[in-house]
Parts: sequence; C-alpha cells; structure tokens
Amino acid sequence: MDHFLYRDGALFAEDVPISEIAAAVGTPFYVYSTATLLRHFKLFDDALDGTDHLVCYAMKAASNQAILKTLAQAGAGMDVVSGGEYLRAKAAGVPGDKIVFSGVGKTEDEIRNALTGGIRQFNVESEPEMEVINAVAQELGMIAPITVRVNPDVDAKTHAKIATGKSENKFGIPISRALEVYALAASLPGLEVIGIDVHIGSQLTELEPFELAYNKVAELTEQLRSEGHNIRRLDLGGGLGIPYTRSNDAPPLPVEYGAMIKKTLGDLGCEIEIEPGRLIAGNAGLMVSKVIYVKSGEDRDFLILDGAMNDLIRPAMYEAYHDIVAVTEPAPGVEQRPYDIVGPVCESGDTFAKKRNMPPLSAGDLIAFRSAGAYGAVMSSEYNTRPLIPEVLVHGDQFAVIRERPSFDEMINRDTIPTWL
Ligand code: LLP
Repeated sequence: MDHFLYRDGALFAEDVPISEIAAAVGTPFYVYSTATLLRHFKLFDDALDGTDHLVCYAMKAASNQAILKTLAQAGAGMDVVSGGEYLRAKAAGVPGDKIVFSGVGKTEDEIRNALTGGIRQFNVESEPEMEVINAVAQELGMIAPITVRVNPDVDAKTHAKIATGKSENKFGIPISRALEVYALAASLPGLEVIGIDVHIGSQLTELEPFELAYNKVAELTEQLRSEGHNIRRLDLGGGLGIPYTRSNDAPPLPVEYGAMIKKTLGDLGCEIEIEPGRLIAGNAGLMVSKVIYVKSGEDRDFLILDGAMNDLIRPAMYEAYHDIVAVTEPAPGVEQRPYDIVGPVCESGDTFAKKRNMPPLSAGDLIAFRSAGAYGAVMSSEYNTRPLIPEVLVHGDQFAVIRERPSFDEMINRDTIPTWL
C-alpha cells in the first residue's frame, strides 16, 4: 500500500496534488511519501516484534539525507556499502553504532573512517579484506566488530544482475569454507567475531530461497558455536521483493518473512538484523515526467517524455516493468491505446515501455512512474548533460525539495580545462 492515490480525478502524494509540485519544481522529478516510507519500515519492525532486532535500511536504494533522517527518527539503523554512504548516514544524524558496513571492496580509508567514526559491524566479504580490517584496527589500537558474509549457494530466482547468493557470484565466502575463515578471524587480534551475515539477492518474490539460506545459517551458527565462536548476531540481508504490477502474484509480506525468520532462527538466541532497501523505498516514490511530443509511428504512437534513461535506468538495465499512470485520472471507460513510452536520449535503450496501454495523452500531460522510489534517483546520471532531477519529500499537506536540480552553469563549471588548452 502507498499514499499515491487519485482524489477528484487528480493524483496526489499524501495530501499534495502532484500537479502542484510539478508547477513549483518543474519536471521531471522524484517525489517520496513520508507516510509510505514509515509504514514500510514499521512493517518490518513489527514483523520482528518479540525478537531482539534492528532493521538497517539499505540506503543504496534511496539515500537522500531527508529520507535517512525520516527513517532514523523512527528507529532504523543503516546498511552502507561505501565510505560515501557512511558519511551521508552520519551527516543525516545516524549514530555509528547503528551503521552496518557491507560491500565487497572496502578500502583502507573507508575502514579507517568507519572505525574512527563508530561502526556497528563490518560484514567481511573475503580473507584479504579481513586482514586489512585487522591491520587498520590494530594501527588505530581498536577492535573491529565483524561478521563474515557467507555465500550459501542458493538460487534466489530473481533477475541475474541482482542475484548474489550462488557460488558463481562475487559475494561472500563459500559457506563450505566458513569454518576455516572464522578460525582465521578468531586468530586476528584486531577483530571481534560477533556473528554471521548473508544476503542472497534482490527483488525475491518467494520465501523459499530465503528459508533455504537461513536454514544453512542456523546450522552454521551451531557449528561455529561448538568451535568456540561467540555467535550472537545474524545479519540476514535484504531482498524481499515488491509488487511492481497490480496483478495477484504479489510477493510475500514482511509479516510472513518475519514469521519465517522466527521459525528458522528464533531458537538460537541471536540478535536479528535485516537490511531491506527496495521494500521500504520502492513504492514510496514516483518519478513524474511530462509528455513533450506525441509522435505517430507506423504501427504505434510514441509518447516522448522529458524524463529519460539517465533519470530512471531500471527499464533499460534490467528490463524492469514500472506501472505508468496519468496524473489526471482517466475518465471511467475511456478507451486505452498502446504507446511506446520513450525518453529523448539518442539510444533505442531509452525506452520505458513498449506497446503500453494508456489513456489518450497529449503534449504537456503529466505522467507518473510508480515504484520508482528505490534504485531510481540513486542510479541516475547526467548522461547527455541532462541535470540530475530534483527530489521532493511530501509530509501530509507539506512538501519540500530535498535535492535541487543543478543549474547548467553548475554542471558545466565542474569541468576544469588543462593549462595546455
Ligand atoms: N544488503 C546488501 C548487502 C545488498 O547488496 C542489497 C542490495 C540490499 C541489502 C538491499 O536489497 P533490497 O532489499 O533493496 O532488495 N539496482 C537494482 C538492485 C540492486 C540491489 C543490490 N543490493 C535494481 O534496481 O533492481
């Protein structure tokens, strides 16, 4: 459920008409709903009720500081995957002891910054990385809390580009080698082993792969404990999918996911950590764009938008489906027609949808891409010298620009010309 609904024929974000935001900030733009962000966070938090737990929002999904602050004030921790994300979380007021550092290639500088600024734990992805964390911690006279990310070799049954839990993926340490890797960790004086980490992929639409992975984690917990490791925290990653269409095959709900976690891991007495990103932010954001031209083709019409693949790359990159709706509600019974919905970038890949049935639309009409809150703004670029589009946060009947559109001068003046030119 989200808070983007039609009222009297116009699409609203909570209590603000989308058209009012468009008039104030221009198109295209991203708009997020505070109520939806909080609702989704609470679904996870409630699903783990009764167990010691922390929901660490995977901020790679949408990392604007206003979003981070909204979630942090509700009690969320953060999952970060770079030094930049770490600093951004800190800037948004998240305390270090609620920040988890994931990612396959943490650099020495990133590790040093996180250790000195405070960190809940590093999720270690390889032995060489483990040695570097140990060395940096020792140099600082500190002890780094770690988990090891294990790769459980399960098929997440999701898009190949976002599956991470098979042995052929670059992520984590094969679970079959976990005992020796934990033995190495225990021998390094700059590290304190506190738990196990696993993350098998994103946009999972079934519980079964999670359950397979979590059963392996349960077994490993017992084995590691019997070898003397004090395993007390399990980080279970993110990955629960969201409904991108309004069909009936919706992914499992957080409450079902939570019940499965309690069933598979609840008896171990461990603190549970999860890292959802998409389910918190995805359906809490829209990308709003304007039709620039309607062009008639031989067998279809094209809607040419002012938004493009650089603003929302998911359709081009993962063949992702996003529901696209008219901001003015179509009259009941109006006949829909097929359109190719495209951006103005000179690449055929700059296509959001092919032969998508839409109500008749004209130049100047606003349309909204649903489920664009996660992996939307954060993956945008300035390709074609197109400015990064603004982000807007709605809260009840208020809205605020939380990232401005840069001016062309700002963009162009970032380049510097060498003296020989
Ligand atoms: N934890 C780790 C270690 C991750 O790598 C990810 C996502 C998450 C948590 C959050 O997963 P989520 O709950 O959002 O599924 N750009 C792609 C998605 C990439 C996901 C990468 N890792 C997309 O647009 O579909």
